[in-house]
Formats: sequence, C-alpha cells, structure tokens
Amino acid sequence: MSIPTPPPRPAGAVRGASGRGGPFAPLDPAAVRGISRLAQSEVYRAGISGARPRVPVDPVALEAAAQKALSPEAFAYISGGAGAERTVAANRAAFERWQVWPRPLRDVSARDLSIDFLGARRPTPLLLAPLGVMEMAHPEADLAVARAAASLGIPYTLSNQASFSMEAVRDAAPTGSRLFQLYWSASDDLNASLLRRAEASGCEAIVVTLDTHLLGWRRRDLDLAYLPFTRGLGIAQYTNDPVFVELVRERVARSADAPAARVRVTRKTIAAGLSIARKGGVLTGEGLRASLRSPLPRAAIETFLDVFSTPALTWDDLAKAREWTNLPIILKGIVHPDDASRAIDAGVDGVWVSNHGGRQIDQSVPTLDALPGVVERVGGRVPVVFDSGVRGGADAVIALALGATAVAIGRPYSYGLAVAGEAGVREVLRNVLAELDITLGLAGCTSIPDLDRETLRSA
Ligand code: GLV
Repeated sequence: MSIPTPPPRPAGAVRGASGRGGPFAPLDPAAVRGISRLAQSEVYRAGISGARPRVPVDPVALEAAAQKALSPEAFAYISGGAGAERTVAANRAAFERWQVWPRPLRDVSARDLSIDFLGARRPTPLLLAPLGVMEMAHPEADLAVARAAASLGIPYTLSNQASFSMEAVRDAAPTGSRLFQLYWSASDDLNASLLRRAEASGCEAIVVTLDTHLLGWRRRDLDLAYLPFTRGLGIAQYTNDPVFVELVRERVARSADAPAARVRVTRKTIAAGLSIARKGGVLTGEGLRASLRSPLPRAAIETFLDVFSTPALTWDDLAKAREWTNLPIILKGIVHPDDASRAIDAGVDGVWVSNHGGRQIDQSVPTLDALPGVVERVGGRVPVVFDSGVRGGADAVIALALGATAVAIGRPYSYGLAVAGEAGVREVLRNVLAELDITLGLAGCTSIPDLDRETLRSA
C-alpha cells in the first residue's frame, strides 16, 4: 500500500487547505531567546521576598502537587500506565543510559532553539502531545493549554478525546499552531468528517495514533472502575461532529427508549444532556447516574464507545486518509524500525516515536531505546517526533541529540494545568525550555542542529 501524494502545498508556511486558518505566523524565535535567564531571574528575585514557585520546577514535586489538586480518579487516569507500569518506568530509565558531554570555551552567548518542522520555522523544538479529558484537570482544559502553547510558539496536538472542540480551541488561541490527533474510528464517515473539520479549523497536520486500537489494561483505572468517557467526559470532538450526531440520532431512533425520549437529537441537545449529566452531581453521585440513564447522553456515550476505534485497522487502510485530507499525515506510535520503513514507503509526512507514555503495553520497549533505529531508517526523509518519558529540558536535549526532529511533552503540562490552569501550563513549558536552553549552552552548542551523537556519551 502506498499513500498517494497530495496536491502540492504552497511553499513556505503551511496553511489550512481551506485557507480559513490563514497563513500560520510562527512566533519569532527571538521571543524565546534568553528564556533561561528570564526564568531563573524571575524565580530567584521572587524568592528574595519569600515566594516559591506555585508550580514546582522539580517534575516529581510537580506530579505530587497535581495529585493534591486532582480527584483520585483524575490523577489515576492521567498519571497511570498499563499493567504494573513497567513501561512508564522504562521510558524514564532509558534516559539514564545517556550522558551529556560538557564542552566549555565555545562562545555560547547567543543560542537559538528554533527548528524547521512541517514547512515552517518554529521557535522551539517542542510540541505538545495530545492529552485527552483535560477537563479533569481544569475547567478551561484544552482552551487553557492552547493559549499557553501559543504564547511560546509551541504547536499543540489537539486530542481526539478533547474536552472542547477543535473549533473552540481555534477561537481561544487563533494564532497558535495546531495539529489534530486522529483515533481511527470504526466509522469512516466520522474519520472523514473529523479530518475535514481539522483542515477547515486551521490544523497543520493530522497525527494518526496507531497504538490505541485497543485500550490498554490500566490497573489503577480498573480498580476505581473509572473511565472518563463512560461519564461523558472527553468526547467533545465527537459531540460537535455532524456525522457523530447523525449516528446518535440513528441510535436513538432504533432504541426501545425512542418513544419515551421525544427529544430532538442535535449537537445542542446532546451537549446539554451531557452537561446536565456532568453537573448532576459529583462524578460518582446519583444525579449523574440518573442523567446517564436518560436516553440522550447515554446514546451519545454508547455511540462513542462503539465507534471510538477499530482493532481491524491495517496499513492498507491508511491510504484512505489521503482521500480525506490534504494535510500532512504523521504516524504516531511507531517504535519498530521496520514500521518506520513501512511508513516511509507509504508516503507519510512524519513519524512519531511513542509508546503512549507507557499507557498501552506493560513492559514494552522504551521509546528512547527505539529512537536511534527509527531515525536511521527514516534517514532524514521526514521529521521524527519523539515522546514518552520526557520530564525536562535535559531529556529533550538527549532525544534531539539522538536524532529527534522535535520532542513532545505530555503529562507534565497536564500537571501544570491542574495546579494553576493556563499559567501553570505556561510555567511548566517555560521551565522545560529554560533547562533545554541551559543544557544546550553547557554542552557547547548554540543551536538545535548542533546536537548530535557527539553531544552524548553512552553511560
Ligand atoms: C487515550 O485516550 C488514553 O487514555 O491514553
């Protein structure tokens, strides 16, 4: 199978094919220049009058602060992994196998964190990984994350399991760069509709997540008997989609409740039903249970559970994505070099090395160990994004030195969101960038392309 080449895109900045998103105006790289000095100065100056950072800088303390701010269910869902969480630990442990060589006396006074990615210059080598159900962390959820990401020029991969629709996120941060994550649904009409909307709302690329065709075995969530989608959370991309609404309408019409329901099935009535359901009480309250028993929210949730993913997906199916969109297509969840080769043969525009933050398979391959093999196979033909286990700027430096084009941050930004909303996300990202900038300079480098295997020593 190969994915046919899309019609040529205009040179220079990538734009939404509809043109409605307008040309993307990447933030001036100068906007993040000096970010480490500014961050240190801000923190230490505030410290003189006794203030400590509200959002802890240390990733372990950050996670602990988020745990305090979150419900047990939300914390388990966000921080947990598959099985005994050995992959989560292995992702982190893989970083211990590399060390950064310090190289002094190289004049690193001017440092540039920018990279080229998807036809545009980006001020930083970071992306935000797609994280679903951010309403569990903060009521402004994806909107707050989008604003924080836009303020630093970091592209945000919108989750297919978002709490706000992609159109609402565009409106909240219109200058921000956005990619859209697709969980390949069992309904092709729905897939096509989601991609049409992504293009029309100005997303720059589609990130097809390949590793979640079955939901991982997550012990923490199972012991709490809690999956947010079953409570109507994290399904806003669906409930705002005309094809999905039609699927719900058909389901209600077929159901035994149909005569009793007597309710028009529209985006608005579904949203209202779900919102009443969520407000019906605390997440586990009787009000919620009663609301979820009412036909409309229940039909929406059950439709979602039916169409969310398909374990039958194969390489051959991917060609359909090119019929549905002109946007660049990135495959996320590539860990084996042979799959990287296959992705290139299929004509995709990018490869994303990820094991879903260890949320899918217990005792799986740590992504940092897989990265060099994938980079070698890709051979510079398309960008390679890296995630899973990145907790700070030094981690990002290691992944970039091993050949990643860009590095995606996941859980840490959700913890910032839980602790301090939009400002918290921004602070977490600023801290990662500051540490990255300092590590770059102390390694004797002044730009991201300077980072290579010479920067590292195998421990
Ligand atoms: C995907 O939605 C996940 O929970 O990781």
